[in-house]
Amino acid sequence: MPQTKTPDPALMAAAAEIRPRAYAPYSGFAVGAALRGADGQIYQGVNVENAAYPQGTCAEAGAISAMIAAGCREILEVAVIADSPVPVAPCGGCRQKLREFSKDEVLITMATTRGTGQAILSMADILPGAFVKSAME
Ligand code: THU
Repeated sequence: MPQTKTPDPALMAAAAEIRPRAYAPYSGFAVGAALRGADGQIYQGVNVENAAYPQGTCAEAGAISAMIAAGCREILEVAVIADSPVPVAPCGGCRQKLREFSKDEVLITMATTRGTGQAILSMADILPGAFVKSAME
């Protein structure tokens, strides 16, 4: 669905700022993520890879951990950036992780450091028909 809300530029700036701290020696693909929590704070994360490849974690997961550790449990907005030819798309697993703390209307802005545009989608757009906690009630 086309989004009418405008992304917060401070959030993408925070994602871009943290991206150089990524630990990505295997893929060489550094990703930065930033979340706006319902407490008003910005939480940042980077991908952290591992010699045992499947143990690596995505930037979004790092940002979620920072938010939860700070005591906040609701995401209001998300920004993700990488040096990719097109705006970077969160992986399927991260979509599910983000959905745990986000309502359907939460904005996800994806960008590339190459400055060639950004994609602005809602949580419902990137993970339609999500499996959520209420399904187990
Ligand atoms: N990656 C992220 O951190 N977030 C994304 O949205 C896409 C992919 C990471 C995982 C891995 O360290 C590297 O990018 C290449 O897949």
